[in-house]
Amino acid sequence: MTRIPLIAGNWKLNLGPSQARALGAELAQALADRRDTEVAIFPTALSIPAVLGAVKGSGITVGVQEIHDKDTGAYTGTNSAHFAREAGCTWALIGHSERRQLFAETDEAVGRKARAALQAGLLPMVCIGETLEQRDAGQVHAVVTRQLSAALGTLRPDEAVTVAIAYEPIWAIGTGRTASPEQAQEVHAALRAWLRDRYPAFVAEQTRILYGGSVKPANAAELLGQPDIDGALVGGASLKADSFRAIVQAASA
Ligand code: 13P
Repeated sequence: MTRIPLIAGNWKLNLGPSQARALGAELAQALADRRDTEVAIFPTALSIPAVLGAVKGSGITVGVQEIHDKDTGAYTGTNSAHFAREAGCTWALIGHSERRQLFAETDEAVGRKARAALQAGLLPMVCIGETLEQRDAGQVHAVVTRQLSAALGTLRPDEAVTVAIAYEPIWAIGTGRTASPEQAQEVHAALRAWLRDRYPAFVAEQTRILYGGSVKPANAAELLGQPDIDGALVGGASLKADSFRAIVQAASA
């Protein structure tokens, strides 16, 4: 079973509508020759319509960086999965470490949001990853499998297989410090083994597990060459067409 590589760009709180439209248009052109690689972009919510317009017809999909688990109601300041779907999104990013650390998002909330995304017809991209202290304390497997279990806990196998899992060690995010290909592969293999233990075989075989944390053109090929790394979730290097394109090319090689 070969999994189609998926390269995703998390633009975080960068690029307002006009800049986002420009980069979307650049990417639609720059990535036109990609082979066998899926590409997704997560702009800030207000820039989603501009990016959707710019990438129309390119096959690049767009996602929302944050959703609430409720569809509508008195929840000032957030987005719902239904509205993101109606706006044209394909994906919902869920449980990014910045949401967990800066906005107190819990494992339980991540699970509820994954379900809400699926019910609205969005594909969840669920982020998990340990802090440096947890790594130094030998808790990597315990932490990431607890996070994964909370995220997928209530999903049926046919639902779980549509989730993209993004392993993003927190100490590697925005620090320029990347997990080595061996370190990342070890965790990815453990995550796939966890899936294999809990679901019918097709789930572990087909679920894509992306690596995130200072992915750059210089390290992408080696990371993406690992057997259980099926793509990348890219922050800083996704904000320039050249560097993002180089990472997409590394996945297509
Ligand atoms: P960087 O690629 O900037 O380290 O960010 C990774 C990330 O958080 C993607 O979601």
